[in-house]
Amino acid sequence: YLNYRVPQTRKDIFTTLVKGLQRLEYRGYDSAGVAVDGCGKDDKNSICLFKKKGKVKALDEELYKNDSLDLDMELDTHFGIAHTRWATHGEPSAVNSHPHRSDKNNEFVVIHNGIITNYKELKKYLVSKGYEFESETDTEVIPKLIKYLYDNRESNCVSFSTLVERVIQQLFEQSVLSFNALHSFICSRRGSPLLIGVRCQYKLSTDQIPIQYNSGDIATYFISLSLFPSLPLSSQPPITLYLSNLLSASISAIIEHTNKVIYLEDDDIAAVAEGKLSLHRMNRSAGEDPVRVIQTLQMELQQIMKGNFKAFMQKEIFEQPESVFNTMRGRICFDTSTGPKCAGQGISLCLKFVSLSVQTRQILEELTELPVMVELASDFLDRTTPVYRDDVCFFISQSGETADTLMALRYCKERGALTVGVTNTVGSSISRETDCGVHINAGPEIGVASTKAYTSQFVSLIMFGLMMSEDRLSLQKRRQEIINGLRKLPELIREVLALDQKIKSIADELYQQRSLLVMGRGYHYATCLEGALKIKEITYMHSEGILAGELKHGPLALIDYHMPVIMVIMRDACYIKCHNALQQITARQGRPIILCCQDDSEISKMAYKTIELPHTVDCLQGILCVIPLQLMSFHLAVLRGYDVDCPRNLAKSVTVE
Ligand code: F6R
Repeated sequence: YLNYRVPQTRKDIFTTLVKGLQRLEYRGYDSAGVAVDGCGKDDKNSICLFKKKGKVKALDEELYKNDSLDLDMELDTHFGIAHTRWATHGEPSAVNSHPHRSDKNNEFVVIHNGIITNYKELKKYLVSKGYEFESETDTEVIPKLIKYLYDNRESNCVSFSTLVERVIQQLFEQSVLSFNALHSFICSRRGSPLLIGVRCQYKLSTDQIPIQYNSGDIATYFISLSLFPSLPLSSQPPITLYLSNLLSASISAIIEHTNKVIYLEDDDIAAVAEGKLSLHRMNRSAGEDPVRVIQTLQMELQQIMKGNFKAFMQKEIFEQPESVFNTMRGRICFDTSTGPKCAGQGISLCLKFVSLSVQTRQILEELTELPVMVELASDFLDRTTPVYRDDVCFFISQSGETADTLMALRYCKERGALTVGVTNTVGSSISRETDCGVHINAGPEIGVASTKAYTSQFVSLIMFGLMMSEDRLSLQKRRQEIINGLRKLPELIREVLALDQKIKSIADELYQQRSLLVMGRGYHYATCLEGALKIKEITYMHSEGILAGELKHGPLALIDYHMPVIMVIMRDACYIKCHNALQQITARQGRPIILCCQDDSEISKMAYKTIELPHTVDCLQGILCVIPLQLMSFHLAVLRGYDVDCPRNLAKSVTVE
């Protein structure tokens, strides 16, 4: 957070930083830290650091407990950096949390997202040069290396920016923000996301010194063009620009200050000194400064507020009638029953698919008559899976930043495949690096356990199948059935949400159990995997999604009177087979809780309890069936006393491998 000639009290600065961290907390919440300048009694430039284990709230309390800080002191130009951590190297603790520092005087301080794969060699080298490390993290090599290069620079003319650039060249992966006591700030991106929010106010005045435009000051040039189109570039007094820059890994941290952002690309370096923001490329040759357009994002603050709900996850579950509608909005015309249109017509020329989704594989195979392979990005990379130029590869990611998925994308691109992104985050790495794709438009998802993004991804892929089958005469009846199903979907989701209290009463019975199995087949194998994932993620119960067809090959051994089992048995092509599985379970004194169609009296007779759901077309039923499992996991987690939105050991966006 950087302000130039925008006077603020230290309290305001802390508030901005801490609030920003709280909005980012879903990405990591085991410790947090903040560094601000202007702290010394004698040396006004000096930087102070505060770090605390636990959630951001603990850090916030620490800041206000600290008597040595004059919170009402007004600062003019100032910098601050803050970080909330999801531990990779070193346990969660105050000393391992960021910012990390170069030395006891806090000359250089750094925050970083990602993993520095060669940190051990760098650390060994720095230790041999006499540097003492405080933490177990990989990040700490960065400030130490800056300090080492600073102390050993060839002349005093070497800039901070050059120093940091030299350091970054030594690191194998990082997104770094750092600043030093001379009021210089620099950040670089490689791998993990980083964006600059631009907040600019201007006022007519003659008694202020304006910010000067430098010819190389590309970002400032664009700020003036896009925010003040009528302002001539050569403007000199009487116009004064007040400039604040907010740099963040995610828009949520800064949306209450600005919706104007510049997304940095890998190997971009942004520097701020004397209020001037400049961008350049690492290893640039002269004249190669990048042009990065300022984008105006549509997100609003209220979208990332909890409102009257107990947790973001709960809010997001209840938003699904609207979020799936927003995924379809403008893409299907229900009045004329015209299927979705897409600009990517070239896709239909491709011969094969590699897709990364279970829930819609079956319907995509039916509508495209092509084989669909489902891959987990990490395993796909481990196997160095063959990929060819005539393959189409989908990359499905809520955040658009998941490291495994991003690496799989780059792998497929290198091999010439057509890459399609399905993300919920405009401007994310996956949406920018894929050849084409779709934004699912579900709105920001904050709860770590994904809910509305899952159902919107589902709908997007169904729409893709519809688009691909538009000219197949033999499939028109089926397509029409699906389009009608999509039209009614938001209403049916509302009906399912109305079962919340019933689901809560079942959770009341189950919450003290250690395990919960979720079983189904056909379209609902994906429902079971997703439901079990939700349950284990936030309730810490052991939960497995089991393919009912595999019951006799192992899982049946787990079944007895005491083992809680949820089964998904809908009236579809697998109904009879699921019925058989149900009999095998009841024959072993199992007491299944069954998700079934309304008025299925035959199933009800064999169930311990039923959750009766409205019926829709088979390939969309998974959307209606997963919602009770989302609600069940939410209630179980609340009853077990856990923080639903921040499950232990997890983070929303996993930008490390
Ligand atoms: C599940 C969940 C995680 C994410 C996964 C990928 O509820 O939240 O398993 O699905 O970390 O994240 P994205 O979708 O952002 O790529």
